[in-house]
Amino acid sequence: MKKYTNIKDIESIPEIIQEAIQLKQNPFQFEKLGQYKTLVMLFFNSSLRTRLSTEKAAKNLGMQVMILNVNDAWNLEFVDGTIMDLNSSEHVKEAAQVISQYADIIALRAFPTLKDKQKDESEFVLNSFVKYASVPVVNMESSTAHPLQALTDAITIEELKTKSKPKVVLSWAPHPKALPHAVANSFVKMMSELEVDFSITHPKGYELNSEITKDIPINHNQEEAMKDADFVYVKNWSSYTDYGKIVSPDSNWMLTKEKLGTAKFMHCLPVRRNVVVEDAVLDSENSVVIDQANNRTYAAQIVLKKILENL
Ligand code: CP
Repeated sequence: MKKYTNIKDIESIPEIIQEAIQLKQNPFQFEKLGQYKTLVMLFFNSSLRTRLSTEKAAKNLGMQVMILNVNDAWNLEFVDGTIMDLNSSEHVKEAAQVISQYADIIALRAFPTLKDKQKDESEFVLNSFVKYASVPVVNMESSTAHPLQALTDAITIEELKTKSKPKVVLSWAPHPKALPHAVANSFVKMMSELEVDFSITHPKGYELNSEITKDIPINHNQEEAMKDADFVYVKNWSSYTDYGKIVSPDSNWMLTKEKLGTAKFMHCLPVRRNVVVEDAVLDSENSVVIDQANNRTYAAQIVLKKILENL
């Protein structure tokens, strides 16, 4: 693997899922692979799981890890040809090349503005690093994609499914803040690649990018959509058409135990209790959110392993 910016970078999804599950049995079996190699992780935004699980994954492979909270460094410029006489002190052209002197792999997290759709969809931060870095880049959640989370979710479904073609439903949920589309986008793309009966449910006005959802069934009746589901993946996202806006609070879309039924509850975390999902779901045996969080390590580890093997 040359980089991991999108799930398209995976050669075979069924194979990588099985390899990750196998790696989980003995996480230290490739502890020499990353010896004398360094992962530099760049965070433009907050993280708990991605930061710790990716660091753990790299260390399981014997890598050294350096972490930079980019907001503590010089203010970066991304536009070509700019007269840098305002707040930006360093251009990404130099920064990415400099970081490549210290790193064998660069992983980065950069959320969208949620104000400028065109700018966000250009993935200007991620793609600038892909363009100017001389080492492979891993996406730890960008404006439009969270491919490490999607791989994690695929691994979790594979481990916990009790039938060959489980019914999986992605449900929008309420949230007080406008959130990105990245997790939902990557989950939709991943489910489109798997042997699952997949559908999406959300209130009108929360349609995701139709180039991503394509012909996946969308039901605006949440309870009807979730009927007989095996996995219910809950996530908030802001409006895509009225870009970055909360078009309606729809608090009745909070997931309850009654609506979930016997399905397994999935969420990428962090989650707001009794806003997105009620306590009774999160505290029940149906919740697999901790299994998902655990699998973040093995998703990151299999990706880093494949990149290290290609260096
Ligand atoms: N799910 C996820 O990406 O968690 P963090 O934002 O805490 O990294």
